[in-house]
Amino acid sequence: MKEKLEQIKEKALSQIQDCDSAEKLNEIKVSILGKKGELTDLLKGMRDVAPQERPKVGQLVNEARAEIEKVLEESKARIEKAVREARMKTEVIDVTLPASKTELGHRHPNTIALEEVERIFVGMGYEVVEGPEVEKDYYNFEALNIPADHPAKDEQDTFYVASAVGDILLRTQTSGVQVHEMEKGKLPIRMIAPGRVFRSDEVDATHSPSFHQIEGLVIDKHITFADLKGTLAEFARALFGEETKVKFRPHHFPFTEPSAEMDVTCFKCGGKGCRFCKGSGWIEILGCGMVHPHVLEMSSIDPEEYTGFAFGMGLERIALLKYEIDDMRLLYENDIRFLRQF
Ligand code: DAH
Repeated sequence: MKEKLEQIKEKALSQIQDCDSAEKLNEIKVSILGKKGELTDLLKGMRDVAPQERPKVGQLVNEARAEIEKVLEESKARIEKAVREARMKTEVIDVTLPASKTELGHRHPNTIALEEVERIFVGMGYEVVEGPEVEKDYYNFEALNIPADHPAKDEQDTFYVASAVGDILLRTQTSGVQVHEMEKGKLPIRMIAPGRVFRSDEVDATHSPSFHQIEGLVIDKHITFADLKGTLAEFARALFGEETKVKFRPHHFPFTEPSAEMDVTCFKCGGKGCRFCKGSGWIEILGCGMVHPHVLEMSSIDPEEYTGFAFGMGLERIALLKYEIDDMRLLYENDIRFLRQF
């Protein structure tokens, strides 16, 4: 039995030392030390050994086993090292190669313009709020003093949402957010409300069925038209430059009285007249006015105690002007070549 043991050991050691792969090494281990391995088999022969010899033979087997295990470990380490070294040789990094370029995203011109407008008004103490895009007729029209027979409610302009009650629509203006804010009952109010609006318009260079507006509303005691003018003139200077002058033209909106449109001096020619401002020197940028007493009343605000002003502008219009883009469609096409410029 001793000789057999010696034989197994010698064979195992030489096999292990010659072995050059982890899989083969494992096979060798199983064939010797495994359940059906040679050494295990040999142990089964113990019952034929004389009882007084058994401890000694047992010790020899254990020693052989320990030695084989030790050599197995050494070989495993040797093979792993060889594999590592081989990999290092093939995985050489050529540090002189140009790095692959990571493409950075770009902010959309609408986003840049909106952030600019928000920054200006937040700086004046305004809060930025949001309202629903799917709106009730009441908020989009009625509470803004736009009666049922007003032409702005024409089905040609408004997207009505099929509903049992027939008064749900995609908002055509952000002005409804004024009503939501007034209904909260917390005064004073100083807010802007940017958001998407929808109109049944054909797409062209200046129209889109979906675009964005920024609404503004201030309500407090003793608010006058002078506050409106001062605020919006300051806004125009902050947005288009210190030299910008403003002009208010009388206009009509159902929810404000008096109402006006505000023009700014053309930032391209400074007011002399050019192709950009179509020779007039002025560019229209927003609608505004003093909140109509009837509108205040409908939202439970006493017009004898509180007054306010409101304004609304098209975000795309601001972005187009600021970045001298001549076709609104460019803002929606997501052409990377266009967006990359911002
Ligand atoms: N909602 C108006 C529109 O879509 C814009 C507007 C005009 C908003 C005057 C206002 C305002 O708040 O005072 O044409």
